[in-house]
Formats: sequence, C-alpha cells, structure tokens
Amino acid sequence: MNYIKKCRKKLKIRETVEDESIEVIKYMKTILRETDYLSMNPEEFAYSEEEERCAIRRYLETSNKLMLSARLDGQLVGMLTFDGGSRKRTMHTGVMGVSVSKTYWGKNIATSLLEYLFEWSKHNGVIKKINLSVREDNKRAIELYKRLGFEVEGKESMKQFTGGVYYDSVLMGRKI
Ligand SMILES: CC(C)(COP(=O)(O)OP(=O)(O)OC[C@H]1O[C@@H](n2cnc3c(N)ncnc32)[C@H](O)[C@@H]1OP(=O)(O)O)[C@@H](O)C(=O)NCCC(=O)NCCS
Repeated sequence: MNYIKKCRKKLKIRETVEDESIEVIKYMKTILRETDYLSMNPEEFAYSEEEERCAIRRYLETSNKLMLSARLDGQLVGMLTFDGGSRKRTMHTGVMGVSVSKTYWGKNIATSLLEYLFEWSKHNGVIKKINLSVREDNKRAIELYKRLGFEVEGKESMKQFTGGVYYDSVLMGRKI
C-alpha cells in the first residue's frame, strides 16, 4: 500500500453494483486493449448496458459468485470475478479472474482484490477452494499468485491462441 499512502490516494474495494455497468464496460474495453493475457479479444466484449447490468445482478444474487471493483480516488482501476460451481458437488470451488488498469500495475491493487476474495471466501461458508488458469508466459501474474499462496496444480496445453501463437495455461489453486 506504499504507493497509495504516498500519493494520499484512497483505494476502495467493494462488490460491483448495477449502476457501475457503463464504467465496467469502459474499463473492460480498455483493459482488453492493454493486455493480451486475458482470454477475450477487445472486439468480443460487446455487451450492452442492460446485459452488463444483468451480469452484475447475477453476481450480487448468487451466494458463491463475486464481482469486485477497486477504485482509486473514485476511478475504476481494477476488477476481480469469482465464479463458484452451480451444482451441489462443485459449489465449494470456483474460478477467479483479476485485472488492473496498466497505469496502476505494481501498486498492490491485485493483491488487495485477492485479499478481499480470501476474506469473503472464509466467511462465505461454502467456498473451500479457489482455482485459476493463467497463460504460461504471464510471469507477473504467476509470481503474484504464488506469493499469495496459490500452488501450481497442472497445465492445460494450447489453451489460448493469440497473435498466431498457441499458449499453454498453468492451472493454480489455493485452499481456503
Ligand atoms: C497480473 C495483474 C493483475 C497484477 O496486478 P497488480 O496490481 O500489478 O499486482 P500487485 O501490484 O498486487 O502485485 C504485483 C506482483 O507481481 C509480481 N511482479 C511484478 N513485476 C514482476 C516482474 N517483472 N516479473 C515477475 N513478477 C512480477 C510480484 O509478485 C509483485 O509483487 P511484489 O511487488 O510484492 O513483489 C496485472 O498486471 C494485470 O492486470 N495484468 C493483465 C491482466 C492479467 O494478466 N490478469 C491475470 C490473468 S490470469
């Protein structure tokens, strides 16, 4: 949190609400242009405001799903989603995705979002394990996840096709 303290900026993390839908769409379009580590092309993110509102509502209404917004002095700078399984046999586990606007990389924002997820999971009562899949060359993300207690559990070959190259993904998990 050093950067945030030094700049007297306030980082606020909270569950995303429907009224943020336009900002979320703008944020996602920006982040998808800034990095190709995510699994979607910028032009594929073509949700209307109403569709985004519906998606946010689903996260709010589903007890093992979470969508978080990180705001620095009011500006949306990072997001995290966690999607728990929809069946009784799989609802204790889910898949996490996180992103931070490039200008703000290296300032502990993803760490703060993940720490929020860990706390939320502990109190959720159902969630026992967090899974993720990360492109094998995304060293920055892999280091972050290892630092926060995720362990490598396997590999999925040719998971992503970007810029004419097939990339494997590293599968990681962290028990709650
Ligand atoms: C991965 C990402 C979410 C990290 O967000 P962030 O807010 O910059 O992360 P934090 O500042 O909390 O933590 C940064 C950590 O990354 C790691 N890191 C930073 N620079 C690194 C580098 N050059 N090489 C390896 N690891 C590095 C370190 O573990 C660092 O922690 P430290 O500074 O305490 O050592 C962000 O870079 C991002 O949005 N990338 C694009 C989208 C993406 O790849 N998402 C993950 C998909 S699985």
